[in-house]
Amino acid sequence: MTTPFLQRLFGGLSVQQFLAEYWQKKPLLVRNAIPGFTGLLSRDEMFDLASSDDAESRFVSQAGGRWTIEHGPFTRERFRRAKKPWTALVQGLNLLLPEADRLMREFSFIPYARLDDLMVSYATDGGGVGPHFDSYDVFLLQGMGRRRWRISNQKDQRLIEGLPLRILQDFRPKYDWVLEPGDLLYLPPEWAHDGIAIGECMTYSVGFRAAPAQELGEQFLMFLAERLELRGRYADSGLRQQRHPAEISKQMVAQVAAMLNGIQWDERAVKEFLGSLLTEPKAQVFFERPARPLPAARFAAAAKRGVRLDARTQLLFCGNSFFINGEPAKVGAADRPHFRHLADRRRLSDLSDLSADGSALLHDWYRCGFLALA
Ligand code: SIN
Ligand code: CO
Repeated sequence: MTTPFLQRLFGGLSVQQFLAEYWQKKPLLVRNAIPGFTGLLSRDEMFDLASSDDAESRFVSQAGGRWTIEHGPFTRERFRRAKKPWTALVQGLNLLLPEADRLMREFSFIPYARLDDLMVSYATDGGGVGPHFDSYDVFLLQGMGRRRWRISNQKDQRLIEGLPLRILQDFRPKYDWVLEPGDLLYLPPEWAHDGIAIGECMTYSVGFRAAPAQELGEQFLMFLAERLELRGRYADSGLRQQRHPAEISKQMVAQVAAMLNGIQWDERAVKEFLGSLLTEPKAQVFFERPARPLPAARFAAAAKRGVRLDARTQLLFCGNSFFINGEPAKVGAADRPHFRHLADRRRLSDLSDLSADGSALLHDWYRCGFLALA
C-alpha cells in the first residue's frame, strides 16, 4: 500500500529503495518529510494525556546532572514544579488519538506484525532521555520545535551502572543533525542515539518490535504448555531391585525421554502462536462495548455504510487463518478477501457480498467493541 503521503515521507526515495538500502541497515534522514507538520497535539493536550490513567507515561529528568525516571499518571502540578531540563513521554498515542493511529498506519509499508506503537515526547530546552540504544527500528518524526540528534553505530554498548535508565558509558557520535518540524529520522536497532531538545520540542516516534529469540522461545513454550495433552503415566511393572536406591536409573530417563518426545509442534502451531501473540492487546488496553448494541439485523443494515476497526484492535492473518485481539477467528473462504481488506485497511466499506456467517462475525466483534460503524 502506498499513499501520496508516504511518497512524500521519503522524498525521492521509493519504498523498495528504502527497504533495500536502509531498513535494518543504516539510518536515513529525510528533511521536510511531512511539509507543514507541527505535531498532532499541543503541549497542554499531551500533559492531559500524561495525567490520565489510560495512558502509559514516563517522566525523565536530568536536573542537576542526576538522572531520574518516574511513571505516570502525573498531575499538571508535577510538570510545573519540575526542575529543568526534563522530558515527558506518552506511549501508545495511537490507541488514544485517531489521528495518531492514522499517522502510524502511514508506515504500513512495514508489516503490522512488526509494528509496536506511536510514542510522543515533550522536552524542555536541553531535555532528552540520554544517549542509549534500542532493540527497535524507529522512525523519529519532529513535531513542534527543534531537536538535535546525535547518532552512532558504535560497538561499545556498555551502560553506566546504577542509573534508573539505560545511558551509554562512552557515547561517540558519528552524525549530528538538528531536526526541524516535519523532518524524519529512521534508525535501525542498536544504533546509539541522543536527542536533545533545542528550546521546548515534541517528537513522535513510530517503533517496530524486533523480538529476541529467547523471548519468542519462552512465549512459545507457554503457548505449547496450554495446549499440551500427553497421555499415559510413568510405569515400571518390570522393576528390578537397584544396587543404589538413590540412583535415577537409565530406564527411568529413557522412559521419560520417550514421553517427552510426545511434545511436538509444527509450522501450523507456530502460525497460531504468532497470530495470537502479535494480536494480543497490551496490558492497559480495554475495549468498550457499545452501551446499547444494535441487534444483528439492524447492525447489518447500518453496516452497509461500512465498518472500521477500533484503534485498539489488532487484526492479522496468516494464509487462511485470522487472529483478532489474541484469539483465532474462523472466516469462511468466500469472506476472506473482505476480511483481508479489513485487516489491511482497517475499514470495510462494501459489506454487500459478505456471507451470513461473515456478517455474524462482524456483529460479534461490534458487540465486543472491536469495531464500530463507519
Ligand atoms: C524521545 O522522543 O525523546 C526519545 C526517543 C528515543 O530516543 O528513543
Ligand atoms: Co531511543
